[in-house]
Amino acid sequence: MIPETLPVPAAAQRVATPRRFLMCRPDHFAVTYAINPWMDPATPVDASLAARQWEALRDAYLDLGHQVETIKPIEGLPDMVFAANGATVVGGKVLAASFRNEERRAEGPAYREWFRKNGYSEIHDPEFVNEGEGDFLYAGRWILAGHGFRSDPNAHLEAQEFFGMPVIGLRLVDPRYYHLDTAIAVLDEATIAYYPGAFSAGSQEVLRQLYPDAIVATAEDAAAFGLNAVSDGLNVLLPRDATGLAARLTERGYRPVGMDLSELLKAGGSVKCCTLELRN
Ligand code: ARG
Repeated sequence: MIPETLPVPAAAQRVATPRRFLMCRPDHFAVTYAINPWMDPATPVDASLAARQWEALRDAYLDLGHQVETIKPIEGLPDMVFAANGATVVGGKVLAASFRNEERRAEGPAYREWFRKNGYSEIHDPEFVNEGEGDFLYAGRWILAGHGFRSDPNAHLEAQEFFGMPVIGLRLVDPRYYHLDTAIAVLDEATIAYYPGAFSAGSQEVLRQLYPDAIVATAEDAAAFGLNAVSDGLNVLLPRDATGLAARLTERGYRPVGMDLSELLKAGGSVKCCTLELRN
């Protein structure tokens, strides 16, 4: 049974809680193949600008008092910078990732190995395709899970059994929003922001039922990759161009922090994609 919706905390009560993140420097970042509509190998990428933008994101986390761990980037894996896809970690348990596309497949074992070396003992090797926190968003009472482009819906059941938490499956229908973290931002345990146009009619209805007080993002916010955000409960780091969404966040008592990740956006990724949360 689905628990009742929690009351939305008053804006004044919003509190940041310290987080621990895993990130991967974009040392080998490039757009050499196209596995989502944002990617065009003909578009030049400024590698040194990508590095500076990534460092600004890492520094923003550190300035807010969060911890950042890093994994060594591997040559030949240009999308490895998108650490969110590397696994899903809840309560110290690690569901390893298994990638849909051949181009990224080797990232699964690479991230898995990081967890093994860093003292995580409960690691589940996936039976079905799941692209980590790209499609699994921990939301306190449950995990929101996307399917339609990347993760296999069977992986939702696999995650539910492994974590012992309800997993709410949501169907993505717009290829520009191919991962759940491009269409939903979890702001805290009671609130999300999302772009309804990314979801099937049935999944939109589920989101309305679970989150009657959600921030509903516009098509412009979504196109600016605004939902690809990371919240610590108070501060919300999001792509700088999502100005409408930033204004909505301010009205609701959050502190939006705009980040420029223009180079990584050329691969269809931004703030959240670069960030894997390590939950103990
Ligand atoms: N180029 C990558 C891909 O298409 C981008 C991944 C973005 N990551 C994310 N968590 N949405 O797989």
